[in-house]
Amino acid sequence: MPNFHAKEFVEPSYPSDYGKTNFEFVAQSTRGEKLVMSHLEDNDLLLKINKSKKGYLIKGDKITRPSQVAILQQVLKDYRDLTKTNTTNSNIDSKKEKTLKVSPFLKTMEYFANSFETSKDILVEVGFGSGRHLLHQAKKNPDKIVIGLEIHKPSIEQVLKQCELQNIENILVVDYDARTFLEFLNSNSVKQIFVHFPVPWDKKPHRRVISTAFINESRRVLMQKGTLELRTDSDNYFEYSFGEFIKQAKVELHVNKNQDLEISSKYEDRWKRQEKDIYDITMINKEISEDIPRIGTLKFDETIEFKKVKEKFQEVTLRGDDFFAHIEEIFKINKDEGLVRVSFGASQRNEHSYLYIKKDSVTYLPDNVLATKDNEKAHKLIKEHIWNM
Ligand SMILES: C[S@@+](CC[C@H](N)C(=O)[O-])C[C@H]1O[C@@H](n2cnc3c(N)ncnc32)[C@H](O)[C@@H]1O
Repeated sequence: MPNFHAKEFVEPSYPSDYGKTNFEFVAQSTRGEKLVMSHLEDNDLLLKINKSKKGYLIKGDKITRPSQVAILQQVLKDYRDLTKTNTTNSNIDSKKEKTLKVSPFLKTMEYFANSFETSKDILVEVGFGSGRHLLHQAKKNPDKIVIGLEIHKPSIEQVLKQCELQNIENILVVDYDARTFLEFLNSNSVKQIFVHFPVPWDKKPHRRVISTAFINESRRVLMQKGTLELRTDSDNYFEYSFGEFIKQAKVELHVNKNQDLEISSKYEDRWKRQEKDIYDITMINKEISEDIPRIGTLKFDETIEFKKVKEKFQEVTLRGDDFFAHIEEIFKINKDEGLVRVSFGASQRNEHSYLYIKKDSVTYLPDNVLATKDNEKAHKLIKEHIWNM
């Protein structure tokens, strides 16, 4: 990640501008940690100043990091030049681009949380890897939307490239954890969910995609006769998953062994060469599920005095049944304004953010906290805690 080191460093006055970047304020924690609020075009991000015996390290704060590394690089260059710092070590002039390229097929979670609407049937593939099956489904079903979920960036790049080369227009790719994605789809809108050769996670079972929560959410989003299709080469994962499916109070399951599909993935080819067994479990959804309203944006409707929060502040972890909120640290901007660093959500996926407390408002920074069910519950905990101080 972009950063620079310096032996000497003199802070500017705030606010200051350099190039197209505005450095609005500095916020300081009781432990001496410093954050600089910076704005470049539509991007709001915090720089972090770390002081050690050897000198200074200036980098982007990981919570407010923009999606494009190039933006952070530019802001750091502007800060270095504004402060006329002689760097001892720096990577902010390198041209390496590590983030995903912009593509019409690549969608953010915010898009699915706030804007995604379609009257077409939806297919979802979890962990598409090389994308052979995803591309096959998209070509076979031009009248449907095929959503591919993957967390491995090179696989995503590869599929985005193939979409362009093969003129495929009905794929939407999301760089997001499949375990919580389905929450953002409407009830009864999905025809098929494919989970092909998921990572078995024998040593970290909590990371498995198939779970009671995932099956329940699949049932909600599947239309009547819609299917959730698991394909695995792992005896363990097959047995574990079968146990999860059969826990359902009422369910139709079909189990197959060593059945060929229309298309074989790279993984599958390898297992077939090794003559491993391959298992399929298909769950057929019978029910029509209730629509659930979208949660919308997580907001604070009331204001609170920063002075009061600062006086009473203590680091604390608040716990609900299966979610938590960690109130981590407080940063003062001036007597009326400050930041509170928080992390919260479900144990499997944490959200990190700051509460930006001003005289007339409290907002999240960055303000794109996803309104998942667990985040909403944790958001209520945070509100209760802060407003009861
Ligand atoms: C063993 S590979 C199988 C790839 C492909 N389905 C196939 O059959 O060749 C599992 C894939 O799932 C992805 N993956 C693992 N956990 C995931 C998650 N929670 N959400 C989305 N993708 C995930 C991994 O990055 C990896 O590409």
